[in-house]
Amino acid sequence: MRELRIDLGRICSNYLALKSAFGPAKVMAVVKANAYGHGIIEVANALDEAGVDVLGVADLDEAISLRLGGIKAPVMCWLLDEQDDLQSAVEHNIILGISTIQQLESVPREAIIHLKVDTGLGRNGFMPDRIPDVVKTLQDRRLKVQGLLSHLANTSEAEDLAQQVVFDSVYLMLEQAGVKVDIKHLAASAAAISYPGMRYDMVRCGIVLYGLNPFEDRALEGLAVKPVMSAVAKVANLKSVPAGQGVSYGYRYKTEKPTKLALVPFGYAEGMPRISQGARVKIGQKLFPVVGRIAMDQFVVDIGDSEISMGDEVVIFGDPARNEPTAETLAESAGTVNYEVVTRVGGRANRVFLEP
Ligand SMILES: Cc1ncc(COP(=O)(O)O)c(C=O)c1O
Repeated sequence: MRELRIDLGRICSNYLALKSAFGPAKVMAVVKANAYGHGIIEVANALDEAGVDVLGVADLDEAISLRLGGIKAPVMCWLLDEQDDLQSAVEHNIILGISTIQQLESVPREAIIHLKVDTGLGRNGFMPDRIPDVVKTLQDRRLKVQGLLSHLANTSEAEDLAQQVVFDSVYLMLEQAGVKVDIKHLAASAAAISYPGMRYDMVRCGIVLYGLNPFEDRALEGLAVKPVMSAVAKVANLKSVPAGQGVSYGYRYKTEKPTKLALVPFGYAEGMPRISQGARVKIGQKLFPVVGRIAMDQFVVDIGDSEISMGDEVVIFGDPARNEPTAETLAESAGTVNYEVVTRVGGRANRVFLEP
């Protein structure tokens, strides 16, 4: 009735495209949040077999789930809380992004750590003025550091470059204090594409790995990546209605003339944004508008007098190269971004994995 098709061959070819575009920097494949909704274990397995440099997640639990799922590639996580069992990170050979003195004081000595510094995003990580305390704790505990990371706010070029200046100055402070750092990483997808000078030793790519555009204001050009996920459902009801027919809760839409309505069993429980009236979906070779409020289980499409049959496939989003609507166009209809569309999609829709 409804499914999410995940093309694992595209995950691998996208990853190789990123390696060739951003090399010699290593490429971390970011698979947090269930691999941006694509299915973390299957995606990670495909990447592991393709020889991924390192997999990145936010939570320690996600990192451990990769190990329990049999993933052998290096895994890093960077969003820890005080309840996290850092000893288990060592036991599962997880690289830790460390953001607080408390974490530095409690991390086992044999852990592989990267220091996370807040260069201007205002979220996680050490403020630069805490670096002397960081250095002291490292020295007191005789801890080794493998990496230094930060994350950009993607606000403007000037602000990104200002964050880079802070990043470089923190690296220098550490170096002058005798703290050796082998792997510096700052750029996620957008900066890896826009600023070759920010690639350092590694880039952390999420959204482009899934073939989606990190930019809201410009096209994704020059990278040979393709969308990995398509969301599809089958027409579950078809009917002719008169002019003036109200559609779905609150009658946000009334038909202007006699027409046909197709019912698509993919609701906000599956992650279809409730306000996506006006989005277009593809049935057969044509695009049709979504009309009326999206309900929990379903939405309605006005197909006019087109010849559509029960059970015909409806592509909710997929690949623009096949003239399908995209995660970007669906996001636009809901005033959000493709990241949110793919990470929320799911519900009762099964993921079907197309093997490489
Ligand atoms: C620290 C960090 N690095 C990298 C990424 C990947 O970002 P993107 O999907 O824009 O490549 C994220 C995602 O939010 C992140 O939090």
